[in-house]
Amino acid sequence: RQAMDSVRDKVAFITGAASGIGFGLASVFSREGMRVVMADVEEKALELAAGALAEGGAEVVPVQLDVTDRDAMARARDRALDAYGAVHLLCNNAGVNAAGPLYRVTYEDWDWVLGVNLGGVVNGVTAFLPELMRHGRDAHVVNTASVGGLVGMPGLGIYNAAKFGVVGLSEALHADLMESGVGVSVLCPGVVRTALTTSDRNRPAHLTSGQATATGESDEPSANEASAMGTEPLDLAEQVLEGVLENRFFLCTHPEFREIVAERNAVLNASFTGTADPALVEAMRGLVRPIGRG
Ligand code: NAI
Repeated sequence: RQAMDSVRDKVAFITGAASGIGFGLASVFSREGMRVVMADVEEKALELAAGALAEGGAEVVPVQLDVTDRDAMARARDRALDAYGAVHLLCNNAGVNAAGPLYRVTYEDWDWVLGVNLGGVVNGVTAFLPELMRHGRDAHVVNTASVGGLVGMPGLGIYNAAKFGVVGLSEALHADLMESGVGVSVLCPGVVRTALTTSDRNRPAHLTSGQATATGESDEPSANEASAMGTEPLDLAEQVLEGVLENRFFLCTHPEFREIVAERNAVLNASFTGTADPALVEAMRGLVRPIGRG
């Protein structure tokens, strides 16, 4: 099994690093001796977050970045290369949510959430792959999806569409990078104690819809409950570190979703009809390399 032996002295580039899971990843990876480029759209929060880690002795560089901006992504990569000469670990983690049933959401909701949650991963992967592939098995990509990338949920249609996209992209990337040795993981957490319920704070004016979606109402009981009971980002980040070092693809950190995902898998499995031609089965096995087949 190919995997990074150690992260020490390597360089991480983390998006959405000013808060929540991204900040947890920056904390844990820098503690492990990595140099960390912390990218985030929220400038003030980023400054504070990077300052806090630097004060604790971490080697970090803050870079203001909107992950939907492709030119800015390329510039941020170049900043990272100027600062540290390499990038070994890319964490495409920045994400937002605009909740609400699909009969009530707006095109602005769609464009914003797909743009950040899926488009941001597309841009990160595209900008960094040449650099990562230069390092072979010393490089790794972690894409933050969600259990919302494994099962559809009421009121989360846009988020589901984006996160299913991240899971699919990551599976294909894993197959595409097999030869190169670069590792890929997709992080699918359940509830984590972060500021995701107030992600409207980073919504650009041109994608602000007239209608209020659930994210605009952060004092909703459900939102407060969720942020009061989630996993601590630092604990989650420890699991990500372990997953990277073991080169595991799916990082499913919340076992309370296991049965729900299993139910979906069972329905999916049972939905295939007819009898397959063995020759076609063989042909498909030659064409498709799902996760689990080396
Ligand atoms: P958070 O709100 O605490 O952190 C997200 C960070 O992303 C913030 O610092 C924010 O400024 C940044 N960001 C937002 N838009 C950006 C943009 N356009 N460009 C660059 N940075 C941007 O939320 P959290 O929970 O830490 O979110 C991180 C990831 O984890 C997201 O992809 C989210 O979908 C995912 N996730 C979160 C779960 C949870 O329960 N909190 C569960 C499953 C997945």
